[in-house]
Amino acid sequence: MPNPFYITTPIYYVNARPHLGHAYTTIAADVACRFNSMRGVETFFLTGTDEHGDKVIRAAKKENLSPRNYVDKISKLFKDLWPELNIKYNYFIRTTDASHRAVVEQVLQKIYDSGDIYFSEYTGQYCFGCERFYTKRELVDGKCPDHETVPEIIKESNYFFKMSRYQDWLIDHIKKNPDFIRPEKYKNEVLSFLKEPLEDLCISRPKTRLQWGITLPFDNNYVTYVWFDALLNYISALKYPYGIEFKKFWSSVQHIVAKDILKPHGIYWPIMLKSAGVPIYKHLNVHGYWNIDQSKMSKSLGNVIEPLQLKNIYGLDAFRFFLMRDMVFGLDSNFSEDAFIQRINSDLANDLGNLFSRVLAMAHKYFKGIVPDVNPEIEKELHLGLESDALKTIDKYEKAMEIFAFHKAIIVIWDYINKMNKSIDTTAPWVLAKKKVSLKQLEAVIYNLLEGLRVISGLIYPIMPDTATTMQKHLGMNPEKPFYNLDILRTWKTITAGTMLPKSIILFPRIDMKKDNNSLTKTDDSESLIPEIKPEITFDEFNKIDLRVGTVIRAEAIPRAKKLLKIEVDLGEKRTIVAGISATYSHEELVGKQIIVVANLKPTKLMGTLSKGMLIAAVDNNVCSIATLDQKVKPGTPLS
Ligand code: MSP
Repeated sequence: MPNPFYITTPIYYVNARPHLGHAYTTIAADVACRFNSMRGVETFFLTGTDEHGDKVIRAAKKENLSPRNYVDKISKLFKDLWPELNIKYNYFIRTTDASHRAVVEQVLQKIYDSGDIYFSEYTGQYCFGCERFYTKRELVDGKCPDHETVPEIIKESNYFFKMSRYQDWLIDHIKKNPDFIRPEKYKNEVLSFLKEPLEDLCISRPKTRLQWGITLPFDNNYVTYVWFDALLNYISALKYPYGIEFKKFWSSVQHIVAKDILKPHGIYWPIMLKSAGVPIYKHLNVHGYWNIDQSKMSKSLGNVIEPLQLKNIYGLDAFRFFLMRDMVFGLDSNFSEDAFIQRINSDLANDLGNLFSRVLAMAHKYFKGIVPDVNPEIEKELHLGLESDALKTIDKYEKAMEIFAFHKAIIVIWDYINKMNKSIDTTAPWVLAKKKVSLKQLEAVIYNLLEGLRVISGLIYPIMPDTATTMQKHLGMNPEKPFYNLDILRTWKTITAGTMLPKSIILFPRIDMKKDNNSLTKTDDSESLIPEIKPEITFDEFNKIDLRVGTVIRAEAIPRAKKLLKIEVDLGEKRTIVAGISATYSHEELVGKQIIVVANLKPTKLMGTLSKGMLIAAVDNNVCSIATLDQKVKPGTPLS
């Protein structure tokens, strides 16, 4: 039986809503997990939320909620988002869970009893944003490098963890296990940090300053430092020390994190494990940042991208694909909607989508949708090469996926897609179809192309699970059988001759950039339909929407945005909203109109302009009609 696979994401702070960066890490973990299940390996996927510490208290206060109610609210946002992104975790841990607390207490006591924790007075420079002390060397111009604020000098008696004792051991461990931290540049970063003497870690916070945390089992006046508490989630979730899950999965654990939390994972965590007598994790996989306009996404900069918005506009699989394809694992990547659209059009609609439609259309045209039988002699004579290329592709793909080089794995699949497209051009089935004598050749060509598509559908499964399933259904595969298995993928001639294939569909509609850069009109051939009535809601739910009458004061076009208008509205207060209506309305004709605005919609940035609300309109056949009132009312009047 191959080794199991245990993958973890960071547990996310509940001081902010989930954004594209969190989605990337969690989708990457999902992709790695699905890939390993394709190898027939038993998998366990852990994610969750980090709920203690100063930051949370401050965020709860801002929202006028108790810490408990606040953490419940934000943790739920993360927990509910992941299934929407087709992320199949096995367990969602919260550091406020009683079972987690019990493990933290147990490990602390164990380390304390072993003599690796001591009590001492400390004066240091403390950054409240990071919730940690900084050494002089770590500060940039005397400021915290993350928050760019001058840390406060704090003098406190605290408990310290003797990390210094393990410095040589850790250096040795990293050198003996060269892919312990990967990609290599992050291993080198940790080694370079370890060249300087390691300071002991302050692992307590006095309750006089902070109560929201796990009380130290050996001193009731202190709570545990949030990082010491959080890192232990990786073992508490497996029911350390006696749980079946811990016994089964711990020895094969792999973590995924971004470079921001390299130090706690590359230094504190292995030393904590060593000190507690727990085997060290297998790999730490470190990725870069998704940046927006070359700077890191952050709530304060207002450049946060919401994953669900992208999913709703472009489709989930395209979103997952783009994230995995456009970030070289380990390096930073800049997010741009234009690059996203280009990927959809070139890689998904043109390359994969066209290949799929072309092959299925030919199977229907030449064989009425019935999978043809193949004469092995004729097949040999044709030297199609799709089977041998598929085997080479699967090997390369496996090697890339193993080391989290998702972009490379995708390039390997796309090389094969290109080979298949070329194979169609060289074998020219439309020429073979013209002569009765070449029927056997035509059968072999079409059958091999269908098999090639089957291999592709399996390889894309971890990245685009829904598309993989759609493709397999259209290739006449039995949904009960586990196709997502690398051994089955390697078995050429899995599709049964004589199977009736369903009619082809468009996998990825092209997005027309020329027509509209923002509202993303899809050039789908399907007719526009009246959408179904949405599920019933209660009056209370409806009542949460604050609809108000607004008078348009000014409207202007947004440069480069073909459909967007920036509209200033009097809602009793002045507001700016952005609406995609300029194809129907000129800015002059809007002024003075009374429109209906969703006044409490979360603000969002569109083409660099912050929109605080949304106007209500109907769109029929690309023509937009704004909802107005038939009598003038006072601006700001609520609708009921
Ligand atoms: N709570 C700690 C982690 C404790 S793990 C024992 C924490 N939380 S966090 O909410 O700040 O999440 C940080 C992680 O979110 C990053 O390491 C990364 O996985 C993800 N990302 C957050 N912003 C990101 C980008 N802009 N780009 C890529 N990933 C990002 O740190």
